[in-house]
Amino acid sequence: MPATTRRLLDRRRFLAAGGVAAAVLVADRLAGAWPAPAQRGCYPFALGVASGDPAPDGVVLWTRLAPQPLAADGGMPARAVPVDWQVASDPQLERVVRGGTVLARPAEAHSVHVEVEGLEPARTWWYRFRAGGELSPVGRTRTLPAPGAYPRRLALAVVSCQHFEHGYYTAYQHLAREDLDLVLHLGDYLYETAPADGQPRRHIAPAPTDLPSYRLRHAQYRTDPDLQAAHASAPFVLTWDDHEVENDYADDQSERFDPPAAFRRRRAAAYQAYWEHLPLRRRSRPRGPVARLYRRLRFGDLAELAVLDTRQYRDDQPCDGNGVGRGQVLVGCRERLDPGRSLLGAEQRRWLLAGLDASRARWNVLAQQLLMAELELQPGPGLAYGSDGWDGYAADRARILRFLQARQPSNPVVLGGDMHSFWVNDLKLNNRQPGAAVLASEFVGTSISSSGPPYEEFSAYVPDNPHVRFFESRWRGYLRCVADRRRWRTDLRVVETVQRPGAPVRTLASFVVEDGRPGPQRA
Ligand SMILES: [Fe+2]
Repeated sequence: MPATTRRLLDRRRFLAAGGVAAAVLVADRLAGAWPAPAQRGCYPFALGVASGDPAPDGVVLWTRLAPQPLAADGGMPARAVPVDWQVASDPQLERVVRGGTVLARPAEAHSVHVEVEGLEPARTWWYRFRAGGELSPVGRTRTLPAPGAYPRRLALAVVSCQHFEHGYYTAYQHLAREDLDLVLHLGDYLYETAPADGQPRRHIAPAPTDLPSYRLRHAQYRTDPDLQAAHASAPFVLTWDDHEVENDYADDQSERFDPPAAFRRRRAAAYQAYWEHLPLRRRSRPRGPVARLYRRLRFGDLAELAVLDTRQYRDDQPCDGNGVGRGQVLVGCRERLDPGRSLLGAEQRRWLLAGLDASRARWNVLAQQLLMAELELQPGPGLAYGSDGWDGYAADRARILRFLQARQPSNPVVLGGDMHSFWVNDLKLNNRQPGAAVLASEFVGTSISSSGPPYEEFSAYVPDNPHVRFFESRWRGYLRCVADRRRWRTDLRVVETVQRPGAPVRTLASFVVEDGRPGPQRA
């Protein structure tokens, strides 16, 4: 297909996927401050646009110039290229309020991360880029409410786990039509697995191990029009889990017991490619294998979000002296209870708890990768636990729950992913003690596309886990959460299938948490 035709089709799909891109064609006609290019050459915005990490006065705007996204260099010359950007208060970009020019550099895969400042809080903005005479699609974004403001409502989506081969990103197509303040991405933005046969889509290259191959894997994922539509519809706030680097890694411990120095080099490459391809701030830019990704967002006095990193600082999984480097189901492993072991690392945990203690927000959200609730995996008598999640680091979880019990921050809500299934839970210190206090509410979202665990097998675990209020693994989708002063509502959104594009979406179930009363209730 000629590039121009393909782009028009992409644009039409984009248009169909969300109202946002309607502005693209309009903008091309009206052009705002910029004239439309006379003729189209090599379109540099094939990977779309994105925004992220919103603040009350600004947001990060992202794009990557890549006229040939699946070529090693993205089809770009080995030199810096200027990129113009604009932010406007209207979708036609007639009322431009901020703009400038930045350099897209080969050392950052010709990505740009514009940290816009000087915007008004709690408003919707539209933005676009221009390079080589070409205009990017128009993205929509939002600034956070001002500090101390008391916004009426917070609406966010929670997404995770988007294995490209396992299915289409139809969930994103629907998410792009939701009216959201932000999208929380809780990890497994890509999968590092080798190409496999017999699935709806296919990775085009072997398992990534270095910077060029991680860049290529990101680029392939970002060619997806539904993912592009979601990024163009709202700011993303992202954190990584394991597959952005390697399955079940722990700090510098590879699942394959690679030498730590070699694994740190691989991690550095993966972290760099992740940063290059996502709307993250420069302070999150990796320095070698180290990147500060945990951070806090304040949504006025309504909500505070602590975004956690449960991979970079963790101790190795417990009881892996049997030669199993990946997560496993453990029976009788005392090491998983060792108070000297940590999932968050001491520094991040101190930061988290200090922030919770100081928070004046009504809803205190822990946005993290995993299922936080205990999950006992031996139906009937006997006890078994997974080693890669919080159950492998039970003392760290207990420290957080004891803090919630002692200090009583307002309405803790834990959001998670990783499980490729929905879990709605009470969080307690002791799940077997009748009448134990519910200390927090937990919602784990299903995957965007990654295959879920066997429903029958996992359903059999639920009776031994009475704090689990709801479980479902047969659907792909996302969480839609809406909070106001009185209650938090979570809708479990599911698409009919990811085996073919374009399936419809529906709400599978809804839960609410009332202000001052921890524990989700079926709506
Ligand atoms: Fe996953």
